[in-house]
Amino acid sequence: MAFEDLERREPWRRIVFPLDVPAASEAQHWVEELAGCVGVFKVGLELFIRCGPEIVARIRERAAGGVFLDLKLHDIPHTVGRAMRAIAAGGARWATVHCGENPAMLRAAVEGAAGRVGVLAVTVLTSVSAEHLREAGFEAAWAENPERLVLERARRAREAGCAGVVCSGREAAWVRRAIPRPFLIVTPGIRPGGAAPADDQVRVASAAAAVAAGADYLVIGRPIREAPDPRAAARAIAAEIAAAEAGARGAPGAHQG
Ligand code: C5P
Repeated sequence: MAFEDLERREPWRRIVFPLDVPAASEAQHWVEELAGCVGVFKVGLELFIRCGPEIVARIRERAAGGVFLDLKLHDIPHTVGRAMRAIAAGGARWATVHCGENPAMLRAAVEGAAGRVGVLAVTVLTSVSAEHLREAGFEAAWAENPERLVLERARRAREAGCAGVVCSGREAAWVRRAIPRPFLIVTPGIRPGGAAPADDQVRVASAAAAVAAGADYLVIGRPIREAPDPRAAARAIAAEIAAAEAGARGAPGAHQG
């Protein structure tokens, strides 16, 4: 479950491709298309609701780095613990839970997982802006510095025994400085050059910036799926990860673990 040496040596294994599609046949198509170009396949709510838990086993057969079951649980601790126990029986490598407000929920998730699935805690969604946080009632000191909120939540996740967190590449360095590996950092919201996209992602970063900041795995969907040649796009991102990793290792103190 930890960040493996193999994944460090072969950067394509650090790419997590979200199977954000409505049917098992389409998911299977993408798994065949991208096998060997991305390491981990992510099953999210849409596919899980349409296909049921069996989809995890089907995808797992062809996923070099396993299946990331991204259901982002958020409920009372008892319910989350029971749901995670059910997930743990399904063969996913990781499963997500929101950090939420009550650390007991995270502890229940870890207990339910019983070491059979790594629990990743979602800190602050990459689709959330400072303005959203302000509107939700966060004081300016928190709303305007999402890294503070991410870091606070990451600390709680680690204390609860989670395998890692999901956060933006923009906050990864804050988390990595405070919490060394093997605690995992998974970053969605990856966009070429870190440019602001015309979609729902807000706190974006480039693959190179996320890796230099200490991210272990990168969730990359639309930049691969919508590329004219998705395999070539994944390969280009893997090359970008390799270069960033080499650069980070060359810079003293820039990278731990
Ligand atoms: O790269 P793209 O924006 O297409 O990736 C979308 C995927 O990233 C979705 O599957 C979404 O659930 C996931 N995501 C996530 N955590 C976030 C934001 C997006 O897992 N904070």
